[in-house]
This record gives sequence, structure tokens and C-alpha cells, in this order.
Amino acid sequence: MANPHIAKHPEYDYDTVRLFCLATIVWGVVGMAVGVLIAAQMVWPVLNTPWEWFHFGRLRPLHTNAVIFAFGGSALMATSYYVVQRTCQAPLFSPFLSKFTFWGWQTVIVAAAITLPLGLTTTHEYAELEWPIDILIALVWIAYAVNFIGTIAKRKPNHIYVANWFFMAFILAVAILHIFNSIQYPVTLWKSYYVPSGAIDAMIQWWYGHNAVGFYLTAGFLGMMYYFVPKQAERPIYSYRLSIVHFWALIAIYMWAGAHHLHFSALPDWAQSLSMVFSLILLFPSWGGMINGIMTLSGAWDKLRTDPILKFLVVSLSFYGLATFEGPMMSIKTVNAMSHATDWTVGHVHSGALGWVAMITFGAMYHLIPIMYGRKQGQMYSVALINLHFWLATIGTVLYIASMWVNGLMQGLMWRAVNEDGTLTYTFVEALEASMPGYIVRTIGGALFLAGMLVMAWNVWCTTQGRTRAEEDPAKLDPVLDAEADAIAPARG
Ligand code: HEM
Ligand code: HEM
Repeated sequence: MANPHIAKHPEYDYDTVRLFCLATIVWGVVGMAVGVLIAAQMVWPVLNTPWEWFHFGRLRPLHTNAVIFAFGGSALMATSYYVVQRTCQAPLFSPFLSKFTFWGWQTVIVAAAITLPLGLTTTHEYAELEWPIDILIALVWIAYAVNFIGTIAKRKPNHIYVANWFFMAFILAVAILHIFNSIQYPVTLWKSYYVPSGAIDAMIQWWYGHNAVGFYLTAGFLGMMYYFVPKQAERPIYSYRLSIVHFWALIAIYMWAGAHHLHFSALPDWAQSLSMVFSLILLFPSWGGMINGIMTLSGAWDKLRTDPILKFLVVSLSFYGLATFEGPMMSIKTVNAMSHATDWTVGHVHSGALGWVAMITFGAMYHLIPIMYGRKQGQMYSVALINLHFWLATIGTVLYIASMWVNGLMQGLMWRAVNEDGTLTYTFVEALEASMPGYIVRTIGGALFLAGMLVMAWNVWCTTQGRTRAEEDPAKLDPVLDAEADAIAPARG
């Protein structure tokens, strides 16, 4: 039977947005559960099981693909499709393309979930999927681009709200990155070889890998930030002018920084140093964006005491600031000589991934999902459960990244320690043994983060069933269908 609580908007396509929201929750649970499993495998190798499909080496890319492309991708498509309709006051360009992006993207995810455990991989990080799936990704992405930009072309207001600029940059850049980083010779249905080889292959791969961070994990989620932070805080953006400077500076600089993943490699030295300089400059637009987001709360700081959704959004910006300070530091060659290939990198990744990407997504979803089910923004089944999720996620993130910092610094120092006669002071296994306490703490942190995700899944389920908890004020739960335009005024300078 059809769910009577589903909100139908007279003008906008809420069905696609709702499906992507639900996919975000499902894939969040799956991707993070695999993350906890691989974290546990590093503590208890017996969990690798006799079956190779569940070995660490097969499940690690499954984790990264599930959290980045399934969880993050579904969240980005849900929010970008919602924001573009609301701020352009126009329904999505094509109902067919909307459905195609949803079902096409879910097919990509299922294909990844089958082929990666089978060991079918190109071996290029974050681009592991084999060529038939790459073609499907390209088709879905082009459909997404046409649908999004087509909606902007149909907009009623003259102005294009800044969140849409970030979403557009994300969609266009990812299309270019994916297509150029997938140029391969197919050998069989499930095997291909890259056309470029050696250092050029590595350079293209990390141009892709780094800009996937810059445009997918950063610009896309900044689009989310520029809509949901002002909406949830019910304040205009702190400085609209700064948001435009932020946009152009970020996209101009990111593209040049990828070679910091290849320090001390066969890449020409000047290219490595250039990437370091651009990475250091990147600190400024990144922090400009963070400050713009956080300062949007000026005059509304008191809301942080009572609104856990706002807490998610603000804490995510703090972690964004942390990761974008740490990244430029790690790009300095002398620092990278110690941090590279240690757990410091994994800690940096997850301060961005858990603290920024996942937390801003949680905030946006808690705002959006009630609207998809005919309630006011942010009116979930239980506010207490959002609060519980917030603390589980925050404590989980801190345990994860602190343990990886300790491990990373220790590994870097142990690996480079030499005796007077020039021999190594420690064997690799000694450094590994010393890392075990950190791996245990990381597993606990990850388990807490996953527990928070499960609490969210329960809260979402109850919201979709139209349930109300005793703690909530039923008066706040009046169904609303806000047909009027979004009033995010480009105010305050
Ligand atoms: C100003 C911004 C940033 C700069 C300059 C930067 C710089 C770096 C550097 C130098 C590394 C280590 C490369 C290595 O030694 O192999 C790295 C790794 C990484 N960073 Fe960042 N980072 C930034 C922001 C972020 C953010 C916000 C995220 C996530 C949302 C992120 C995700 C990653 C990932 C996934 C890797 C690991 C790549 C791999 O080896 O698989 N970074 N970053
Ligand atoms: C419950 C939460 C999570 C846990 C327990 C977890 C755990 C892990 C583990 C154990 C690894 C392998 C590290 C290694 O090879 O040494 C890993 C890698 C990675 N995870 Fe997660 N993860 C979680 C959530 C996420 C989320 C939400 C994202 C992205 C949005 C993410 C992105 C990544 C990336 C990009 C890597 C590769 C890092 C690199 O190559 O340096 N993870 N994760």
C-alpha cells in the first residue's frame, strides 16, 4: 500500500529527491558497516575468513566506493536536485532523466558491490570499477549534468544562487575527471589496461584522485552547506560576496594541487613543488568558506543549544576547517616525507570524511527528510535521537582521527629511525605491533559512528511512517507544503 505520509509537491519532483534520501541512509549503513569490518580485520586478522571475497584487500575498495559514491553520491544527488528546484522555482528539467539518474546510479552501486569482492578491479584508487561500469557511470553522469543545468536554464529568478554554482562545478568537474581517467583498452569484458603508463598514468590518476576530493567531497558538499546552513539557522549567508570569492578561488586553485600525492616519486621535481605551493594557497579559500558558513550563525548562536541539526552542520564546518588546515601542512615536502603512507593520511581522510562529508550530510538529511514526508523542515520523529546521533558521531570521529594521528606520527618516526651504523632501529613488524592500540581505538570509534548511523536509520524509518514521539510538540508537526519560493536573500554584503 502506498505510504500516505509521502509529500507530493504540486510543482516540484519530490519523488526522485525522496528516493535518493532513502538510498543515502541505506548505503550509509552498508558502507560504514564495511568500514568497521575492515578496521576490525586490522586488529583481528582471523576476520579475513577463508573466503577471499571477504579479505581486507577486496573489502577496502568496497568500503571506499560505498561511502564515497553510494552514500555521498546519493546524498549529493538528493540535495542538488532539491536545492536546484527550490532556488530556481522550477521542476527538474526532465522526469525521465531524473528517474534514469536514480536507477542508473543504483545499478552502478550494485555492480560495484558484486565486482569488487570478486576481485575485478582496475587497481586505480577511487576508480577501481571496470570499463563496462565506467561507461554506465559516464552515461548517468551526463544525464545528471543535463538535468541539473537544464533546470537552471528554466529558472524563474534571474539570479543563480551560489549553492548551484558549487553543484555545477562539482558535476562538470567530475564528468571531465571520470572520462579522462577512464581511457582504457578493454581486453575482455572484465579486464582492461590504461592507455597512459608509468609516471603519466600516475599523474593523471592523482589529478583525478585529488580533484575527486576537491570537487566531489568538497565543492558538492559546499553546495549543500550554502543552502542548508542558512535554511536551518534561518539566517542569510554571512557574506554573499565572500561566497562568490570562495567559489572562484577554490575552483581555480584545486586543479593544480594533485601532484602532492606523488611527492618523492618519478614525477618531475618542479611539478611536485608546484603542487605544494598551490596546496598551501588552498588554505585561504577553504577557510574563507568555513568562516562564511560558521558566521552565518551570528545572531543565532543560541539555537545551537536546542537544535542538534544545526550542531551537525556547524561541527561539520569545524572539521572541514581542520582537514583543510592539515592537508596543506601534509603537502609540504618535509612533512610529507614523514606522513606519507602512514596512518596520518588515513586520519586526515576521515577527519574530512566523517567530520565534514558525513556530518554535513546528516544535518542536510535531518532537515530534508521530514519535508519529503509532509512535515516541517527538521521535524523528525525524535529530536532526542538526533542528539544521541550527534554525540555518537562526534565522539566516534574524535576517537578515529586521534588514534590515527598517534599511529601516523609514531610510524613515521619509527620507520626513519636509524642506528649509528646506519641500520634501521626498528623492523616494520615492530612498528605494526606498536600501532595495535591505535587500531583498537579506531575500531571502537568507527563502531560508535556506525551506531549513530543506525540510530539515524531508525529515526528516519519512524518519520517515514508518520510517527510522533511523546517528547515532541504535535503542534509543530502540522503538514506543510510550502509552494512559495525559497527566501535565501543574498544579504549582508
Ligand atoms: C586544502 C585542502 C586539502 C589539501 C591541501 C589536502 C592535502 C592532502 C595531502 C598532502 C594528502 C597526502 C598525500 C599523500 O601523502 O599520499 C592528502 C590525502 C588525502 N586527502 Fe586531503 N587535503 C585537503 C583536504 C581534504 C578534504 C576536505 C578531504 C575529504 C573530504 C580530503 C581527502 C583526502 C583523501 C581521501 C586523501 C587520501 C588519498 C589516498 O592516498 O588515497 N582532503 N590530502
Ligand atoms: C564507521 C565509519 C568508518 C570506518 C570505521 C572506516 C574505516 C576505514 C578503514 C579501516 C580504512 C582502511 C585504512 C587503511 O587501509 O589503513 C578506510 C579507508 C578509507 N575510508 Fe573509511 N571508514 C569509515 C567511514 C568513511 C566515510 C564516511 C568515508 C567517506 C565519506 C570514508 C572514506 C574512506 C577513504 C577515502 C579511505 C581510503 C583512505 C586512503 O587511501 O588513505 N570512510 N576506512
